[in-house]
Amino acid sequence: MRLHVVDHPLVAHKLTTLRDERTDSPTFRRLADELVTLLAYEATRDVRTEQVDIRTPVAPTTGVRLSHPRPLVVPILRAGLGMLDGMVRLLPTAEVGFLGMVRDERTLEAKTYATRMPEDLSGRQVYVVDPMLATGGTLVAAIRLLIERGADDVTALCLLAAPEGVEVMERELAGKPVTVVTAAVDERLNEHGFIVPGLGDAGDRLYG
Ligand code: PRP
Repeated sequence: MRLHVVDHPLVAHKLTTLRDERTDSPTFRRLADELVTLLAYEATRDVRTEQVDIRTPVAPTTGVRLSHPRPLVVPILRAGLGMLDGMVRLLPTAEVGFLGMVRDERTLEAKTYATRMPEDLSGRQVYVVDPMLATGGTLVAAIRLLIERGADDVTALCLLAAPEGVEVMERELAGKPVTVVTAAVDERLNEHGFIVPGLGDAGDRLYG
């Protein structure tokens, strides 16, 4: 597994406002959307393309377009929905699948309650979007499912990550074709499984 922390002043600026407890829901949604577009720019650096021949008004030339099969974008409900628009704005031809997962507040174990994705993901590039990588349980389960279905390149975009979650991902997905792109890796998880300093509960701040 590869970890890529996007080091950019605009990312840091937007993330700081997202973290601020005074930021209201409409502003939080707008900023999350803007931030994901910046992360997506980095995360799609290895998106597969193929060469095409075109003509400009002046001369013939060659360029690239996204290869087939199209990439798949998978938001993890509920909070991942807040990152979907920003992602498909950059990849408008992507197919979208959905995974509903919730973390048990007591055991912190991730449970899947909805799956709506192609059964066969052979040879597909997949972009999973979920704002928080906390214990890592949710993303590990989601990515295992994608790889079981044949995905051969999975990139997870998270607004924030905890070092504990990154470690779990590195252990559980060692040797797998997985990249995590995030705006920051914070200090730690607290006893309730929240990222510290974090930004609180992303689902609640987006939709609560
Ligand atoms: C949050 C978050 C991740 C998960 C991260 O979702 O959006 O999906 O927790 O935690 P983990 O890394 O410890 O598994 P939550 O379960 O709160 O559901 P929601 O998106 O519906 O609010």
